[in-house]
Amino acid sequence: MTTATKDARLSQIADTFQKRYGKAPSVTVRAPGRVNLIGEHTDYNEGFVFPVAIDREMIIAATANGSDRINVYSLDYDACDAFVIPTSTGDDAMSAIAKSEKHAWADYLRAVIATLRKRGYKVSGFDAVLLGNVPQGAGLSSSAAYEVAVVTLVNNLDNLGISAKDAALIAQQAENKYIGVQCGIMDQFISALGKEDSALLVDCRSLDFRAVPLNLAWRDYAIVITHSGVQRGLVTSEYNARRAECNEGIQALSSMLGRKLNSLRDIDLAEFEKQASKLSDKVARRCRHVISENKRVLDAVAALESADLVEFGQLLNASHCSLRDDFEVSCPEIDQLVELSQQHDGVLGARITGGGFGGCTVAVVANKAIDSFKDEVIPAYEKLSGKHAEVYICVATDGAQVLEL
Ligand code: GLA
Repeated sequence: MTTATKDARLSQIADTFQKRYGKAPSVTVRAPGRVNLIGEHTDYNEGFVFPVAIDREMIIAATANGSDRINVYSLDYDACDAFVIPTSTGDDAMSAIAKSEKHAWADYLRAVIATLRKRGYKVSGFDAVLLGNVPQGAGLSSSAAYEVAVVTLVNNLDNLGISAKDAALIAQQAENKYIGVQCGIMDQFISALGKEDSALLVDCRSLDFRAVPLNLAWRDYAIVITHSGVQRGLVTSEYNARRAECNEGIQALSSMLGRKLNSLRDIDLAEFEKQASKLSDKVARRCRHVISENKRVLDAVAALESADLVEFGQLLNASHCSLRDDFEVSCPEIDQLVELSQQHDGVLGARITGGGFGGCTVAVVANKAIDSFKDEVIPAYEKLSGKHAEVYICVATDGAQVLEL
């Protein structure tokens, strides 16, 4: 997004705020969506991920209203929601805020407020306007952007002193416990802690992380995200099923090895392969993906740091095969898009990104080939799949922050 577009969105939110509430907002925050370069379905297995915060974000402007109510207007849906902040804490706070009967979009706000109260944080009433441009159902983490934006907002309005890591954990808990998706920490973590021009290598066991400068532009390459036009389906049930299958693998491997594995991080590929034939075929493939993907993440970071983009691209391709064949989270359209992308001369590597079952691909494309990628790969894909695809050139941004209006 250009600065001019961003300025236009900020004035739109400020004008709307003034019209609706007759005053100016006191705090405006943004939290970005993300694209994951490599390390898929590893986060909830205590593994490694390598995501980038992107210039698609949720913006919230707000001001305290001196009451115990939250009033919110969504510019994207042209709709309002209002609810009372519970005085209770702990699990009672979670049940004290029901899901909205009318607006699914309002539930993410409700989820975060309930979680903050569950943890005993003070939340004072406020009036707010929301404006987001992370495509929904695209695997670019629009919900994490929204949740992290809400934590960042309340953190500022009520001076709560919540660290960026805790903001990510609170947002994740809201998604797990209130929304009901058993996601890992990656999306909320990168939305809270992303760094401009960098990807973050995150160890999802310790939550230690390191920013790795991308410098791709200077090396004449760009990270290109393509929305396949397939909305993700069955995400919650299939996602939760994959988690359960990984857990089944951990239990079975622990008893085979006679030592307790806490996660698939505790076994390497060589040791795993010796046991694999004793597992059911499905569980073995799920585990093989996770264990091999962890290694690919570390190899990909090493490749990037030694400016070996060819190797980096090949690791992306290998990750796609593993997600398609072993973890089974791709779909026919995405496979077509990835294959067409990989066949294009200017592309070093491409794969599905995010939770799967539709959504986006990520590719490393030579700058000088971006036009031909758009002119050749996209129409060929659209013809084959009958879907409309959209290309975004990834700009790596900072994580959640307070904005000046
Ligand atoms: C979704 C989840 C993440 C992660 C990815 C797959 O985006 O929210 O926690 O598990 O899927 O890598």
